[in-house]
Amino acid sequence: MVSTQVKIFNSGADYLEPTDSVNQSLFPLTARVNAEDHLEIGGCDVVSLVERFGSPLYILDEMSLRTACQQYQQALNQFYGGLSQVIYASKAWNCLAVCGIVASEGLGFDVVSGGELYTAIQALDKLGINPQDNIYFHGNNKSIPELLLAIEHDCTIMVDNWAELQQLASWSQKNIKIMLRLTPGIECHTHEYIRTGHLDSKFGFDPNDLDALFKFVSERSHLNCVGLHAHIGSQIFECQPHQDLARLMVSWQQKAISYGLPISTLNVGGGLGIRYTEQDDPPSIHQWVELVSKGITSACLELGLSLPKLMIEPGRSLIGSSCVTAYTIGSSKTVPGIRKYIAVDGGMSDNPRPITYQSVYRCAIANRMSAPLTEEVTVAGKHCESGDILIRSARLPETTAGDILVVMATGAYNYSMASNYNRLPRPAAVIVKEGEANLILRRETYTDLLNQDLFPERLLEKE
Ligand code: LLP
Repeated sequence: MVSTQVKIFNSGADYLEPTDSVNQSLFPLTARVNAEDHLEIGGCDVVSLVERFGSPLYILDEMSLRTACQQYQQALNQFYGGLSQVIYASKAWNCLAVCGIVASEGLGFDVVSGGELYTAIQALDKLGINPQDNIYFHGNNKSIPELLLAIEHDCTIMVDNWAELQQLASWSQKNIKIMLRLTPGIECHTHEYIRTGHLDSKFGFDPNDLDALFKFVSERSHLNCVGLHAHIGSQIFECQPHQDLARLMVSWQQKAISYGLPISTLNVGGGLGIRYTEQDDPPSIHQWVELVSKGITSACLELGLSLPKLMIEPGRSLIGSSCVTAYTIGSSKTVPGIRKYIAVDGGMSDNPRPITYQSVYRCAIANRMSAPLTEEVTVAGKHCESGDILIRSARLPETTAGDILVVMATGAYNYSMASNYNRLPRPAAVIVKEGEANLILRRETYTDLLNQDLFPERLLEKE
């Protein structure tokens, strides 16, 4: 990996650096500065998009998302000699249009709840694609109705623990396709909330139970166990953990085969990081796929196993860099000698990542992309919470109320983690492509906010 030099950006336009791999780009691939010095994405002027659709607005570049899907598939074709499949970890952003785009690129889905499952089924249905072999259902505490919905649609259940396995074992009249999720005990450097591979994780079977597990499954003929799964965490830049994981999983596969289980698939999870700031230096999609492919291939050669079907389930690196969030700047406040706050019309409800994981973002002023960056400010949200800070230290030109501020790389875990905190309606989202913008999630209204509210008659009665 070539290490990035610390770059000095003089204007918002400097963030538009050409990159080969979508996950290494701060802005979506189609971003450019137009003749009016405005940011343009997918051929659409961001300032005009805000005039038309309002703000905050998630702007998703279809071309970047499709390119990321293609980059994963091309890399697998190039570096892996066996069968392979990319499934989208849809927790990153699960909605009909996103699922539709990803499915039309030939990817399957990792879903983690009945709601994600239902949405993926509906999106596939629109495209006439069968959920079978395309939906993989994860989760450490799936409910019985969720499991039944998945089984009804022939989805593969990613079995997480003994309680779930025993539940499935009790449905002996059904033929159920499963994969077993194991905790690999591999440490990696990322935020502790998004590490999943270490042994003290709520996810997956303990690898010390492998013998008992494989024996149990091999004795239940209605449980069609096709593969093994592990995921070590998210926003990972290191290569070694995934190489170690590949070797470990092949050794598990060997053991499973010794119990007569026809394990043909290894799913190594997702986790490849993206660039949120100019200092971030994630491996490219190609580099990541190459090292995983080589890890599996060389371990199989050593152990004399034929190549399994290799599955990967990226979320963030497929969609994170494809989207920006546009806000309108409102009030500002200078605390002399300390800092200047500028406030935008959204915040922790549309992007809870800074307050949850101390995530760092970059931003630019979409209506003055070439203006010199002369100020260091704190970008605050509008929530009634002091911690509602989107960017603690942002370099911007001098701004005024009405300027359009875009935060980069908001495609992953932003809309999907959005809330109605302080009763803010969730923003709209548009996809942009070749000058056309289509609404994919309409802005919530105050009426939407009251949709689930009930007012029991009893409250009208006088005491
Ligand atoms: N597979 C499994 C089993 C996972 O748990 C995850 C993410 C993925 C795949 C996709 O990982 P990715 O490629 O996106 O790194 N809300 C956090 C991230 C939580 C990730 C949870 N699992 C955030 O905003 O950073």
